Amino acid sequence: MGFFDFLSEEIAIDLGTANTLIIHNDKVVVDSPSIVAMDRRTSKIIAVGQEANLMQGKTHENIKTIRPLKDGVIADFNASEQMISLFIKNIPSLKKRFFTPSLRMVICIPSGITEVEMRAVRESAERVNGKEVYLIHEPMAAAIGIGVDIMQPKGNMIVDIGGGTTEIAVIALSGIVCDKSVKIAGDVFTNDIIYYMRTQHNLFIGERTAERVKISIGSATEELENPPEDMSVQGRDLLTGKPKEILISSREIYNALDKSIIRIEDSVMETLAKTPPELAADIYNTGVYLAGGGSMLRGLDKRLSQKTELPIFIAEDPLRAVVRGTGTVLKNIERYKSVLIK
Ligand SMILES: Nc1ncnc2c1ncn2[C@@H]1O[C@H](COP(=O)(O)OP(=O)(O)O)[C@@H](O)[C@H]1O
Ligand SMILES: [Mg+2]
Repeated sequence: MGFFDFLSEEIAIDLGTANTLIIHNDKVVVDSPSIVAMDRRTSKIIAVGQEANLMQGKTHENIKTIRPLKDGVIADFNASEQMISLFIKNIPSLKKRFFTPSLRMVICIPSGITEVEMRAVRESAERVNGKEVYLIHEPMAAAIGIGVDIMQPKGNMIVDIGGGTTEIAVIALSGIVCDKSVKIAGDVFTNDIIYYMRTQHNLFIGERTAERVKISIGSATEELENPPEDMSVQGRDLLTGKPKEILISSREIYNALDKSIIRIEDSVMETLAKTPPELAADIYNTGVYLAGGGSMLRGLDKRLSQKTELPIFIAEDPLRAVVRGTGTVLKNIERYKSVLIK
């Protein structure tokens, strides 16, 4: 421990396409949508996280909301840097400090992002006083967060269904043996619902409404044991232009999502087919782990289990599995050196 260590702090960040989470001193201190609201005239950020999320779809011409990591790539470098910086500056336990402490950080990034984007994230972190910045791939962090012993010579399959991407990976001996990242995840499900309502009911609904429908009554199967009650959904009638409400069933949402879920199933099958036989044998015995918010879609575990004929386990608190794993790596940085991105 150095003399000036009291001036430095450690944080773990899950920079997700939908949600950013930060752990500091073993506690989740930030859990916010990855979104900023920007003044178009000045390019200044006027809100971040939950506050910006509430503005989504309700802005006027001078304000726009941006999700900087939307499709698993950094769409807007400036907005993403400002978002990271504001989230860090708003950590309550750091805000009180007189000096901005120097930070040691482990940041988990979507595995689809490019070298250039990775460098941008690293540089953004350094500009907010990151003295030691480490990056880790999402499925690895998810596996650690789920409690899988990733260092064993044993194969484990992780499927992390986030907002922008679904990341599928087989992990053994601290490395990713084979993986696949597909741009079918929560955001696509939400858009499927918007499309369905427009084409089947002439009802134009917003993204936030569609997301609520997905979470309240969304389903990945037709045969739910306890289907949720029908939900009333409001939007604009495309024929009359008037606001309108209709009643929607869980089964309809199943129909809306089916095509996208097939694509996730196919990606899981493809990854299984690429898995070396010894590791496939391990996965046969241990099953597949699901993480990410999308894994909470009703019946998705059952459906994947039928398709793969494997046991499927949803991580405890799936929205936080990745940040938990990132926090574990931060606390044991020497032990986990090998999983950090060089
Ligand atoms: N109960 C739920 N059922 C279905 N989808 C959900 C549920 N809760 C959250 N989601 C979806 O999960 C996604 C966010 O998951 P998350 O793991 O935070 O993504 P990311 O890591 O990409 O930020 C969003 O698309 C959200 O709508
Ligand atoms: Mg994630």
